[in-house]
Amino acid sequence: MSQVKTIEWKDGAIVLPDQTLLPERLEMLRCEKIQQIWEAIKMLRVRGAPALGVAAAYAVVLGLKEFAGSAREEFDRQMNQVCDYIATSRPTAVNLFWALERMKRFRQTLAEQPTQLVWEALLEEARRIHQEDEQTCQAIGDHGQTLLPNPATVITHCNAGALATAGIGTALGVIYAAQQVGKKVRVYSDETRPLLQGARLTAWELIQNGVEVITICDNMAAVVLKTKSVDCVIVGADRIAANGDTANKIGTYGLSILAKHHGAPFYVAAPLSTIDRSLSNGAQIPIEERDPDEIRRGFGRLTAPPNVQVFNPAFDVTPAENVSAIITEKGILRAPYERSIAEAFKGRE
Ligand code: MRU
Repeated sequence: MSQVKTIEWKDGAIVLPDQTLLPERLEMLRCEKIQQIWEAIKMLRVRGAPALGVAAAYAVVLGLKEFAGSAREEFDRQMNQVCDYIATSRPTAVNLFWALERMKRFRQTLAEQPTQLVWEALLEEARRIHQEDEQTCQAIGDHGQTLLPNPATVITHCNAGALATAGIGTALGVIYAAQQVGKKVRVYSDETRPLLQGARLTAWELIQNGVEVITICDNMAAVVLKTKSVDCVIVGADRIAANGDTANKIGTYGLSILAKHHGAPFYVAAPLSTIDRSLSNGAQIPIEERDPDEIRRGFGRLTAPPNVQVFNPAFDVTPAENVSAIITEKGILRAPYERSIAEAFKGRE
């Protein structure tokens, strides 16, 4: 895979490509202060559920850097503050909260150690979260590619690729893994209004990796499903409830209805860290609403009357009944999801 690293801990800072600038230019951003990584998450300079988990883990390390060596109480007070602060950045992708919880739990295992050593161990834990995501993506891809014929035509939405994870991606991971075993995949990529992650990011990374990609506006998916012999739809997820209801980028729900209507399987590819078993169904998933100017002033110019009312949810929930399978690193889960999800978590507690 030819791919710039989506996120990295380098010389005491978090380094990432500023995804808001792609595909116009590839520019690295160095976050040396906790406020910078918070802003980078909020503004989608780094984005995608698994990448947000990795970013949150490194953010904890960054926010505690100056406190390595300080008194234990002070270190722990700061750790709580940093975690609470990062938790305010974006609400929907559960990986962010999952990573913060994992870092807190890990810190508890080091209770009496000097804080310099605790800080170093936290950096190692963040690196583990990073590496595990890389392996998880490959496993998702390996399982998922078995669902694709050769050749295959796929529709995807948003960007659930290498740019959204520390590895080859989830939905796009399936496509890259199919490519690794010699399958030929053609991808129709929804542009993904309003911030165009599909047009800007998915198309960019698929071209970089030699996958045939055709960008379509979101409102073209129906005609593509009707006329282009689509084998399946594959998307990522930001949070999956215990019953399989899936929150993903706004527009995913509509696409699932179109897929059902046209008889195309609708697959969700996601790691187990995206499954929130504390929520029994998708109605409980917090949905981020974003700045109305993302719609009124698309990429800087006036694209609607400046004072028009706007509804700008960043995600929607696809009901489990529209999901043909959930592709995880533990295998392919089928309905009823309460049971298959619980099964996948066995031995993990
Ligand atoms: O707002 P974004 O760009 O962070 O939304 C990203 C998505 O909806 C992805 O599909 C999801 O996070 C899965 S990424 C592997």
